[in-house]
Amino acid sequence: MVSRWDSKWIQTVPAWYAAASGRVPDCTRYMGHACAKNPLDAWAYQEIIFDNTPDVIIETGTYAGGSALYLSHVMQNAGIENPLVITIDISQAGSIHVLSSNILKIEASSESIDAVKAIEAALDARGPSKIMMILDSDHEYSHVLDELHALTGFVTRGQYLIVEDADAVEGPWIAVNEWLPNAPDFERTARYEDKLVWTSNPGGWLIRTRGPERLPVPQSP
Ligand SMILES: C[S@@+](CC[C@H](N)C(=O)[O-])C[C@H]1O[C@@H](n2cnc3c(N)ncnc32)[C@H](O)[C@@H]1O
Repeated sequence: MVSRWDSKWIQTVPAWYAAASGRVPDCTRYMGHACAKNPLDAWAYQEIIFDNTPDVIIETGTYAGGSALYLSHVMQNAGIENPLVITIDISQAGSIHVLSSNILKIEASSESIDAVKAIEAALDARGPSKIMMILDSDHEYSHVLDELHALTGFVTRGQYLIVEDADAVEGPWIAVNEWLPNAPDFERTARYEDKLVWTSNPGGWLIRTRGPERLPVPQSP
């Protein structure tokens, strides 16, 4: 098996990055809706959802809504009871065509108190939830760091937190490095980097290993 540190990996991956940059993730669509995902990462998400059965996924960065629709369909097909995707964007104008009873769109800046309150209200209307999170909005360092502080308290034990796009910009990478030493409930995993070889989220796959398995009541971060 080729590890991340072997010369074969090191030579191959930058070539893939260069060839795919600005093309593969930007051009992918899910059921007709633009979905700005590296397809390998999308495949990893369906594995994670099937294995870890989150019943809520909080996604920041709705864009055209293709990723929210994809996540909601995977959750339904995995047999998860009462699944909900909460997707947050500073503007939901681009996602107006994506309608699904198990997608809740929130229009707010993702790190804001308005976003946190809207998430709490949605969780309050449910029973205890197993919550996964994907951060894919503004990838600037300061915004990602603000999101990590404001939102990661919602992630429950055993569930993934994925911070996207450290391959494209350095903000997510730096923000996770700064936040993680003070977030002892979370651990980085190299599982998908090792398995997929090419991920758009290097250093951005984390699991919450401590804390409540389900969030019984909304908790302010
Ligand atoms: C990379 S796109 C999201 C892609 C989407 N998750 C997908 O896979 O198709 C980034 C989105 O973040 C949104 N955004 C930018 N700044 C934001 C902020 N402060 N809060 C929430 N969303 C923001 C943009 O409007 C844009 O739709």
